[in-house]
Amino acid sequence: MAQNSKELISQPLAESRWGLHGKRVLIAVSAGVAAYKTCILVRDLMRAGANIKIVMTEAARAFVSAETFQALSGEPVYTDLWDDRISNRMAHIELGRWADAIMIAPASADVMARLAHGICNDLLSTLCLARPRDRCLLLIAPAMNKEMWSHPATQRNAATLAKDGTIFLGPDRGDQACGETGDGRMLEPEDLLQALEHALSPKLLAGRHCLITAGPTFEAIDPVRGITNRSSGKMGFAIARAASQAGALVQLIAGPVCLASPWQVQRTDVVSAIDMKLAVDRAIDSLPSDKVKHAIFISVAAVADWRPAEIASQKIKKQHGESTPSLRFVENPDILASVAARSPRPFCVGFAAESEMLHQYGEAKRKKKNIPLLAANIGHETFGQDLNQLLLLDERGSESLPLATKEKLAQQFIEAIASRLT
Ligand code: CTP
Repeated sequence: MAQNSKELISQPLAESRWGLHGKRVLIAVSAGVAAYKTCILVRDLMRAGANIKIVMTEAARAFVSAETFQALSGEPVYTDLWDDRISNRMAHIELGRWADAIMIAPASADVMARLAHGICNDLLSTLCLARPRDRCLLLIAPAMNKEMWSHPATQRNAATLAKDGTIFLGPDRGDQACGETGDGRMLEPEDLLQALEHALSPKLLAGRHCLITAGPTFEAIDPVRGITNRSSGKMGFAIARAASQAGALVQLIAGPVCLASPWQVQRTDVVSAIDMKLAVDRAIDSLPSDKVKHAIFISVAAVADWRPAEIASQKIKKQHGESTPSLRFVENPDILASVAARSPRPFCVGFAAESEMLHQYGEAKRKKKNIPLLAANIGHETFGQDLNQLLLLDERGSESLPLATKEKLAQQFIEAIASRLT
């Protein structure tokens, strides 16, 4: 379930994130050694532009001090039901009214049991019960020993909480502080951040199927050599993430890239253009035809235009003194044009990687491929970079999305797509 957290954490965080910027997030910390991960989560939420408040149970302070969270968030930490820093001394009401979401991380078995039964015997449990449920989400990231997690009592409590509308994040499987291995690890901070962003993002593509290609393709010459291009896949992965946050069911067909899968995105890895076309056809064919016309196909991949006509079965050896080998190429299928030629067809969106004359070449490509929307960019300036700028072209004209992180552009791009859907 969880992504590879090492890869995720090594990705640069966008300075501000769609579902998180300006959102009011109450982080509730209960007892568990995983509280050290919550420190990282709080730091990353701050960077993402969220407003944070922190509540801790008394037992949580045995693991991480309130001062640590205060220093990270720059906000006082609330621990007491009768906190007199809240003017009416009703912290349990005011904090719940303030928050767009409450995330309990880590959530102990004890906290889950109390919440499942509506027991209010400290600030955390009381404010969860008192929160306005129609506008304040409750997310729970359990962390406990595997026997505690799998115990029928805990499972019953989890089922009750889920039925009451609580969003469960994890737990993950792996090594535990007690030396055992199993289910019960708290998700990594980046996973929790993505899940929270997911929960709070505007659902512009709710229920839509969205198929996205990303990255380069690799066309083999022999078992050890091939032809590819400098696409990193970052733009396509950012779009997959933004589409998923917007509520779409996202299938990502990725060429060879070194990127972790975005949260809740179904990913298929491919190598060549032919593999990519097969995967795209399979994905569309698996949809009922009434769903196809409401689906979206975003072709971000830098698909190789040609492939070697023959793939040598053994490594081609250098012959000293003899002429260099010459390669003969055949054209690859145009995946986007073939999807656009289907009937019924999804809403098709293309990319154009150009080196000059963005508007002219982009618009010509949009018309040639018979698609309603195309994003043109300067390929060699953006391949592998974290920033990009796009020129959106449709039948009404053009619109510039100025230089920004690929995450931010992806969100703007999804908004642009959503506004064009019927
Ligand atoms: N594309 C595709 N299959 C191909 C080539 C391109 O699906 N075999 C898609 C890309 O994913 C992109 C759009 O078509 O959405 C335009 O790709 P681009 O490489 O810019 O254009 P080409 O059609 O390959 O034309 P050229 O390379 O001559 O500019």
